[in-house]
Amino acid sequence: MDTARKAEIFNEGRRQRRHLIDILQDIQSCEGYLSREAMQEVAAFLSLPPSAVWGVATFYNQFRFTPPGRNPVRVCMGTACHLAGGQLVLEAMARELKLEIGATSEDREFSLERVACIGCCALAPVVTIGESVYPKMTPPRVEEILVQMKPAEGRGKSGDGPT
Ligand code: FES
Repeated sequence: MDTARKAEIFNEGRRQRRHLIDILQDIQSCEGYLSREAMQEVAAFLSLPPSAVWGVATFYNQFRFTPPGRNPVRVCMGTACHLAGGQLVLEAMARELKLEIGATSEDREFSLERVACIGCCALAPVVTIGESVYPKMTPPRVEEILVQMKPAEGRGKSGDGPT
């Protein structure tokens, strides 16, 4: 995080507990996750015990505590996507990537998370991988897309791509 951004996040006007979630959100948007060091810094800034910051951060499922992968996979679980089978897509993604939700692969290639509505409900169920949006996902398409992303494994390509 650059110094100017850090100064914005930790500005004196936010040195109150009511700004805790805003501060955590800003750190995550800069760094992609909340490190132990960042949470300790927030605790010191707000004069809170680190356990209080940890308790708040873990209460909300919007926060992650490991660095995202180079290909962050986000499965939308907003209402439209959920109703269109998002849970099955999420389970297929977890199975294919061999990752728990919220985890990052050991090689840091992929991370997996569930997210709230990303604003393209007409395409439900939706997955994003990095900046690419994959509409109308199904469990079989999960496998196809991951095969495309892992050409080194030599399993061929299909014509399906992101929008
Ligand atoms: S609910 Fe998934 S994009 Fe809106």
